[in-house]
Amino acid sequence: MCGIVGYVGGDNALDIVLNGLKNLEYRGYDSSGVAYFNKNNLVFKKSVGEIKNLQQKLEKTNLKKTVVLGHTRWATHGENNLKNAHPHCDKNKEVMLVHNGIIENYIKLKNELKNVNFLSQTDTEVVAQILGREISFFDDKKVVLNKFLKVLKKLKGSYAFAVLFKQFDDKIFFAKQKSPLIIGVGQNFNFVASDISAFLKHTKKVINLEDGDYGYISKKEIKIFNNGKEISRKTAIVADNFDEINIGKHSSFMEKEISEGGYAIKNTLLHLKNLDFSKLKKVIKGCDKIFVTACGTALHAGMIFKYILETKCKIDVILDCASEFRYKNFLVTKKSLCIFISQSGETADTLSCVLYAKKKKAFCVAITNVLSSRITKMVDFVVPTFAGIEVSVASTKAYLAQLCALYYLIYVFCDVLKLKKPFSVEDIFALSKILNNFCQDKNLLKIIPNFINNKSLFFVGRGQDYLLALEGALKLKEISYIHCEAFAGGELKHGSLSLIDEKSYVFSLITQKKLADKMLSNIVEMKSRGAKIILFSQFKNLKDNATYFIPLKKVKESLMPFIAIKPLQELALLCTKQKGLNPDKPRNLAKSVTVE
Ligand code: F6R
Repeated sequence: MCGIVGYVGGDNALDIVLNGLKNLEYRGYDSSGVAYFNKNNLVFKKSVGEIKNLQQKLEKTNLKKTVVLGHTRWATHGENNLKNAHPHCDKNKEVMLVHNGIIENYIKLKNELKNVNFLSQTDTEVVAQILGREISFFDDKKVVLNKFLKVLKKLKGSYAFAVLFKQFDDKIFFAKQKSPLIIGVGQNFNFVASDISAFLKHTKKVINLEDGDYGYISKKEIKIFNNGKEISRKTAIVADNFDEINIGKHSSFMEKEISEGGYAIKNTLLHLKNLDFSKLKKVIKGCDKIFVTACGTALHAGMIFKYILETKCKIDVILDCASEFRYKNFLVTKKSLCIFISQSGETADTLSCVLYAKKKKAFCVAITNVLSSRITKMVDFVVPTFAGIEVSVASTKAYLAQLCALYYLIYVFCDVLKLKKPFSVEDIFALSKILNNFCQDKNLLKIIPNFINNKSLFFVGRGQDYLLALEGALKLKEISYIHCEAFAGGELKHGSLSLIDEKSYVFSLITQKKLADKMLSNIVEMKSRGAKIILFSQFKNLKDNATYFIPLKKVKESLMPFIAIKPLQELALLCTKQKGLNPDKPRNLAKSVTVE
């Protein structure tokens, strides 16, 4: 959470950093700020709200700068206001610093700083003040680096820092510990940033920094140190494409990303077909228990995996959300296979579960969309998804890519354990053609005004449809701020049915024949209380049971989650648009949740 970008190069640094910040806005958009040199002084400009507010502030100044660092904030310590926005500085304005992470011992460190008038409530300012106290304007590069390391060693928690020191008007210093930070390598320019979307337009050459790395970039130099020693790190060329972070003809990134669901599946499958699974296959043969953990949408993808593996392959899976998993002391052993699903590969709760499983010597597998993420360095085996960069906070195409990778894993399980395969790879491949483009179901559009002002909306299903209902409800509540709840059809009578009345709208799903009759009984129960039923199903003969019927394309039942989720994603988007909200940036949220 929070995005940072620093650039050293040509005199359009301010523009470049502002554009970089816009591409990082998905990491947080409570406030933003930049720092740069003005004559020989360090100055900052900050603004509350989206980057465009900061841009407006800077437009009047029309500054030509060659060294700029910027930050977009997701508030953790201190409310969202101008004072708490980054950059932060020391009392003499000789150090300017932006930060992503949390300094856990900041109160202790703050108490140690005497005679300092703190301007903000943030943990970050404490670090800027300590650096200001320790480092003198007259210190040379070597001394600054040593003192920088000394200060870093005092910090507990996580950080990615980009720092300007007044005496070096051609350098940005940086440090990384448990928060993402990479270097973008250019000719006569260099970047330091939270992720590649900040600079993909300018370079595809990337150095992935490791925990404990610190150093500086200048126009022509990249110096990396770890624990006092200069080190070199490999430069990689990333495959990501700038178009992925270009909104194109779409009205929102979410709309664009929903329309890319098919590509996400196709690209993921093409890569997985060439991945060597032999290491994992050996583990599958010998493992005693399978654990799956993740958060939010990724967890919902994991639930479908568990459902199919248990019902179709008779293999038990233990699943819990990462924030619970991490404190449950599950009986993970060296014979366990632990699967972690994370689009970003940076989610703090999921990473802490990886650490737990590693301690227990389990075999750890990560399903992630970001190959340079922390999770890939922690696990024994990576199953990459290739959804492309997902900008919108609400996950859509990445969910489909996760399902794709998980279904591929089910295929691998069946192969190794000589079980009957519930679907073929070609079946999954065929889905990619169906799922491209944005359908914008006309029926869906027509009925939205009927319920858009309801206080609550309900999603109901059985079997795999209950798991889809959970994801449909999450998507809609997340971006439209309408309270949505998902129920398992059979559970309604045990309490939730009392919520249903003649004003209720219930999104119901039926994609499994064997559960259709049971679900229809639940629908009748809700209808008799006056509820309007919006039914999503491939079984057209069920139409008359619904107030509104949304037909789904028919594929193999176990593959229906791929098909059924799309209108639910679109429903969330269309409702949000009708409410005049920005679907890409829901309030209080950020895409990458790097704090607990
Ligand atoms: C919801 C959403 C979140 C993420 C969750 C996990 O639309 O995107 O629920 O799925 O925060 O994030 P990752 O997959 O990056 O670990």
